Amino acid sequence: MSVLIAPSILSADFAALGDAIAAAERGGADLIHVDVMDGHFVPNITIGAPVVKSIRRVVKVPLDVHLMITDPDKYIDEFAEAGAAMISVHVEVLPHLHRTVHAIKALGAKAGVVLNPSTPVAALTEIAGDVDYVLVMSVNPGFGGQTFIPRSESKVREVRALLDRAGNSAAVEIDGGIDTKNVGRVVSAGARIIVAGSAVFHGPDPERATRELKAAALAGLPSAAVPR
Ligand code: DX5
Ligand code: ZN
Repeated sequence: MSVLIAPSILSADFAALGDAIAAAERGGADLIHVDVMDGHFVPNITIGAPVVKSIRRVVKVPLDVHLMITDPDKYIDEFAEAGAAMISVHVEVLPHLHRTVHAIKALGAKAGVVLNPSTPVAALTEIAGDVDYVLVMSVNPGFGGQTFIPRSESKVREVRALLDRAGNSAAVEIDGGIDTKNVGRVVSAGARIIVAGSAVFHGPDPERATRELKAAALAGLPSAAVPR
């Protein structure tokens, strides 16, 4: 796998989501990342399945839905039905994570598990063979525009090593504070799905920002893996 760029619409203008998504796609977005927040698990409230359903009609690339909610089991079928191709859930809220991961797969979506910055990689030990991807949070979830937590880089390496030991080629995704300056380092560490909100949508030209982020991400790949 090369590197996939997943612009997060959290930092886009919600009154013009279709335009924001189209610009990111023109710039080479491989996925669109959708941040669902409930005001309980995280302090912020964002959007739900009806918005996913609406943007599904206009988006060309798969939707990567990140559930920052206390009870994802109650909602995963709704998000899958709304058009989520990928659904990730936080290990911190799920005592029966194995059941949830397999429920997501049974709905036809890719199943991801997410680690908060303070959650140890060891929390994944028993589930590492079952997941389709692992999302390493490089900020505390809840808001866009926060500063990358440097420890996340070595955490990506640890997650990659754990997945490799489990014989699972699942991708490592990273989310929070990613920009053209640090993306090369996290890709070198093993991240292959890159989420970026403010780096893409806070400037005047999301298309160009996506293109530049992708170029910087590809530069972090081991040279043999760079596509020609
Ligand atoms: C944070 C969200 C992120 C957010 C990233 O809780 O999960 O996806 O949109 O935004 P930036 O890239 O601005 O840190
Ligand atoms: Zn996210």
